[in-house]
Amino acid sequence: MKLAPSIYTADFARLGEQVKEAERAGVDWIHLDVMDGAFVPNITFGAAICRAVHKSTSLPCEAHLMVQAPERFFADYKEAGMRRIIVHVEACPHLYSTIQELRKLEMQVGITLNPLTPLSAIEEALPLVDLVLIMSVEPGYGGQTYIPGSTQRIRRVREMLDAIGSQAELEVDGGVNVRTIRQVRDAGASIAVVGSSVYSPKHSVAEGVAALRRALE
Ligand code: DX5
Ligand code: ZN
Repeated sequence: MKLAPSIYTADFARLGEQVKEAERAGVDWIHLDVMDGAFVPNITFGAAICRAVHKSTSLPCEAHLMVQAPERFFADYKEAGMRRIIVHVEACPHLYSTIQELRKLEMQVGITLNPLTPLSAIEEALPLVDLVLIMSVEPGYGGQTYIPGSTQRIRRVREMLDAIGSQAELEVDGGVNVRTIRQVRDAGASIAVVGSSVYSPKHSVAEGVAALRRALE
């Protein structure tokens, strides 16, 4: 299973070093949680910080846009070096056009939905995307508890993707830690977003990543 650490709970005063620590620990992607204080109650950072992170690593970076009307910023994130953009279906009433705009920019397309948004909201879009992200907490904050019903949602999306022969990645975000990562993988996810289980004052980044790998053995 691939790991995509979210820098949300990293030490922002030494962000470049924190990203390198994850890279040295052998993770696969860097996940950047962009929040606008409107689509979600919290504000994090925008394209300038994403660019700084991209410059500090050779790992591919993905921006998870928890913002209203995310298409306003696609070109900025492309320029900031993001390889993949993940948008919320709740913020994209014209999802087909949104996906086309990302394709025009030659970026990988990810779609996501809040924990209680029906999976039917993504069904028709599945053949058009490179990644589906299942939110296993309400977006907006790190360090929340994994919502148990998420595992069943991962299984259902895995079935939906397999049924159409899609090779899209299936990613899970929120509350993934040493206690939950195994069920996430076993339900069919291919990438885990890991925030506070990697970036925590309680342990080093290397220890956090090693503990997650052990939990998967
Ligand atoms: C939630 C964010 C997540 C979050 C993950 O709004 O999208 O990426 O920061 O953090 P943990 O792993 O601590 O739940
Ligand atoms: Zn995220």
